[in-house]
Amino acid sequence: MHRLTNKQIILGITGGIAAYKSAELTRLLKAAGADVRVVMTSAATEFITPLTLQALSGNPVHRHLLDTEAEAGMGHIELAKWADLVLIAPSSANFMARLASGLGDDLLTTLCLATDAPICLAPAMNQAMWRDASTQRNVEQLSARGIRLFGPGVGEQACGDTGAGRMLEPTELAQLAANCFHSGCLSGKTVFITAGPTREPLDPVRYLSNHSSGKMGYALAQAAIDAGARVRLISGPVTLTPPARVECVQVETAEQMLAASIRDIEHCDIFIAAAAVADYRPTAVAEHKIKKGSEEIMELHLVKNPDIVASVASHTHRPYTVGFAAETRDLLTYARDKLERKKLDLVIANDVSRQEIGFGSDENAVTLVCRNNDTPLPQTSKRQLAVKLIEEIARRASADQETVADF
Ligand code: PMT
Repeated sequence: MHRLTNKQIILGITGGIAAYKSAELTRLLKAAGADVRVVMTSAATEFITPLTLQALSGNPVHRHLLDTEAEAGMGHIELAKWADLVLIAPSSANFMARLASGLGDDLLTTLCLATDAPICLAPAMNQAMWRDASTQRNVEQLSARGIRLFGPGVGEQACGDTGAGRMLEPTELAQLAANCFHSGCLSGKTVFITAGPTREPLDPVRYLSNHSSGKMGYALAQAAIDAGARVRLISGPVTLTPPARVECVQVETAEQMLAASIRDIEHCDIFIAAAAVADYRPTAVAEHKIKKGSEEIMELHLVKNPDIVASVASHTHRPYTVGFAAETRDLLTYARDKLERKKLDLVIANDVSRQEIGFGSDENAVTLVCRNNDTPLPQTSKRQLAVKLIEEIARRASADQETVADF
């Protein structure tokens, strides 16, 4: 079921007594980490209320093709593009006939015509209707178009008949929906990533900070999402847009970044510290703008900031913890020192003295430093590097967990 994490699913409900089971199906898909948007035909609303599905999915239910208010929110084409999977459960004989003939006479059929996502149908109808030659012809046509059929099951029916035509149970349908997706290397894992700089205020108009743009951390967040993880991105002030589907917590100072990193840390499997955190902050923040005086030299008093990644690594519920090392000389010596001093599992060392990599650039080159060896990864875009880093981190974290389990 981990394969459903972060997946965007349209659950279409058509008119049939099995529609009551769609409520449980919605709950199961949500519990497996999917974002569910329900689309109902008018007949479906005779069997179950949109309010129930809205409460369970946490999203407004879509019902009408020509509803100006709904179109202003998420229009039908936008909805069709949004979906990673369209699952129609129950799928009535009438709906299958309309879909087979290529009709677009309501929201659900129009969506099916417009989407590039896989479409799956869970037929539910009386056994005689299922056996009928027209239904079977429609099933053949739909299958030939690549539309998948989940079921129907065989057994006693609501009308008292026995035979093929029952909708599969919600647990089976949720599992079949999960099987439509490849398993990413971080499926079912929760990853926290810090990114960007921190800002340490001196007075209401000035702060201490650094040149981090957040590009490396944001690329890692995108790669982790693509690998199936739930991601919390804890970001200092940057101008980037957070990737879709991440929980982004915006912070300014190191102390705020620490609080957002430690919150729920017991649910975090992997922690990646890509942020450039200010090591020190002013001992006091002036209430008003500090005025220029007659002195030529001004003294600033600074106090050490908490070390975020070291705090995470020493936590009782310690996740697999990865730090970065941004150095301008003796890269590997300092990186190894950080690995040991901060008790990290892995350090990603980058040379920030080179303009074409490191702070603000679109590319980076790094060396992975762990207890036993160093692994260089050559210069490439931060996006591509992030994909490689996530694969490496996922592999090492899972090997690490297996070792722990052996004890
Ligand atoms: O954001 P970009 O412009 O894309 O640039 C990317 C980057 C250069 C910022 C990134 O690749 C990087 O190297 N990030 C870490 C920068 C840094 O602060 O390194 P450091 O060597 O000072 O810190 C070592 C590690 O401890 C880092 O993981 C850092 O996040 C963490 N740290 C440091 C201080 C502190 N108080 N708390 C921390 O968690």
